[in-house]
Amino acid sequence: MGRSLSLSLSLHSILVALALLSVSLVKAEDAYRDYTWTVTYGTASPLGVPQQVILINGQFPGPRLDVITNENLLINVINKLDAPFLLTWNGIKQRKNSWQDGVLGTNCPIPPNSNFTYKFQTKDQIGTYTYFPSTIMHKAAGGFGGLNVYARSVIPVPYPKPAQDFTLLIGDWFKTSHKALQQYLDSGKSLPFPDGILINGQTHSTFSGDQGKTYMFRISNVGLSTSFNFRIEGHKMKLVEVEGSHVIQNTYDSLDVHAGQSLSILVTLDQPVKDYYIVASTRFTKQVLMAAAVLHYTNSQTPVSGPLPAGPTYEIHWSMEQARTLRWNLTANAARPNPQGSFHYGNITTTTTFVFANSAPLINGKQRYAVNRVSYINSDTPLKLADYFNIPGVFSMDSIQSIPSEGPAFLATSVVPVSLHDFIEVIFQNNENAMQSWHLDGYDFWVAGYGSGQWTSDSRKAYNLHDTLTRHTAQVYPNSWTAILVSLDNQGMWNMRSAIWERQYLGNQFYLRVFNAIHSLANEYDMPTNVLLCGKAIGRHP
Ligand SMILES: *[C@@H]1O[C@H](CO)[C@@H](O)[C@H](O)[C@H]1NC(C)=O
Ligand SMILES: *[C@@H]1O[C@H](CO)[C@@H](O)[C@H](O)[C@H]1NC(C)=O
Ligand SMILES: *[C@@H]1O[C@H](CO)[C@@H](O)[C@H](O)[C@H]1NC(C)=O
Repeated sequence: MGRSLSLSLSLHSILVALALLSVSLVKAEDAYRDYTWTVTYGTASPLGVPQQVILINGQFPGPRLDVITNENLLINVINKLDAPFLLTWNGIKQRKNSWQDGVLGTNCPIPPNSNFTYKFQTKDQIGTYTYFPSTIMHKAAGGFGGLNVYARSVIPVPYPKPAQDFTLLIGDWFKTSHKALQQYLDSGKSLPFPDGILINGQTHSTFSGDQGKTYMFRISNVGLSTSFNFRIEGHKMKLVEVEGSHVIQNTYDSLDVHAGQSLSILVTLDQPVKDYYIVASTRFTKQVLMAAAVLHYTNSQTPVSGPLPAGPTYEIHWSMEQARTLRWNLTANAARPNPQGSFHYGNITTTTTFVFANSAPLINGKQRYAVNRVSYINSDTPLKLADYFNIPGVFSMDSIQSIPSEGPAFLATSVVPVSLHDFIEVIFQNNENAMQSWHLDGYDFWVAGYGSGQWTSDSRKAYNLHDTLTRHTAQVYPNSWTAILVSLDNQGMWNMRSAIWERQYLGNQFYLRVFNAIHSLANEYDMPTNVLLCGKAIGRHP
């Protein structure tokens, strides 16, 4: 799949383009890209044992989406699985358009032998993202892929064009089928320890380049739960982009990437001509799993040999320190011409502070995960549709309190109400002895600070209010907190979830309802005409 503009607009997309133009939602110059993706089961043996995987157009991992800022994507997903299915676009902000977010709170799942065409724009975005199945434990079987948004030709990026760029989807992997993993969780047990780490669905990828040239590696953690450390034997890595932020271009020997996160680095092949190990190894785990790939210099006759280069394994403080070095380059632009730093986020008064504490309670004798005592359960009716059609009793807006409280945990379809244009401070308080990784759909947010122990208002003194980066997924270290600032400029129903999939599946999520009473297309698009209806929304008229 090339990066050039698609010249073959189908009649269908021209009609859609005309329809959208008539209400001037998009500019004429933003191209359309049309995809048809058929989702099926297949068999693969990524760890040497045949197992059921999810294929998209026969591929595992799924096809890579290479698109340009502001392009309009039409992705017709045909579900040939035996269960309802949705894809979500991790980090794509879906401006004014939570209708396309592809999670159960916004979309009815696509029934088996049925299809749904996602229609969205990569509005004002650039960077390294992914997509993956959001339904049940499908993610454990594949169905994920890279989603790279390249700059428009008129927008400069703050680094020379690399000779080539490689997309690395890295994640923990189980030999156990996704259905068996789901049964573990449904029966109240935790997931076992993963069996391995895959890089692009395999254990032996090779990336080739010429000595003296510089290559980009776009790295995403597509695993279910484990953080990893990434490094390349004998080579320095220059960090240039993190989830759409252009960062200060520091040089690292190795980088931690937590569940759900993405970043891109530049690597100059400045070493003697031979092959080098590329390694991803698990972080904060008793047993350390390693995945090795190969960086092959053109004309190298020397294969990799010797032990894999070592990296950090349990050093939490090291990881937190490294996280603090990720900073915005204030003078660089992102997807738009104005420099990132022209938005003085540190000068804005916050309207509300939320402290969201995660916990791992037993409810009805089963393992669950909760936020401020509430463990999320999905509704048969997407919350977005319930809101639109005024269907009562689908979700509750008063179950999650804005600060933690004492008492037993309970189940609810929890929504936190907030107002469009508020500027909120969110503290993720992790009092568990486990890693946490929090993701917010529809937004990127400033990661103001990380700290150990209990957050207090005094912790604000250590915030970076000058040049921290924005991103869509922030890790929270064991017995620690992470503070973020969010400018609520995107109306809609947005999923805030643990990117640690077992936690997400068992209740570590909720929705942020960013609301404005004035109905206006300037704030939010109308329900799409091809919307799928389900639950209590069946029979309603869009
Ligand atoms: C299913 O695909 C057809 C084209 O093959 C398309 O016209 C239709 O809108 C799709 N259905 C939905 C719900 O998007
Ligand atoms: C920041 O971005 C500017 C503008 O693109 C660039 O010239 C500069 O080298 C960058 N600085 C750092 C430290 O990355
Ligand atoms: C607030 O804005 C002013 C310029 O308007 C700037 O000099 C100052 O550094 C800003 N403070 C923060 C914390 O961003």
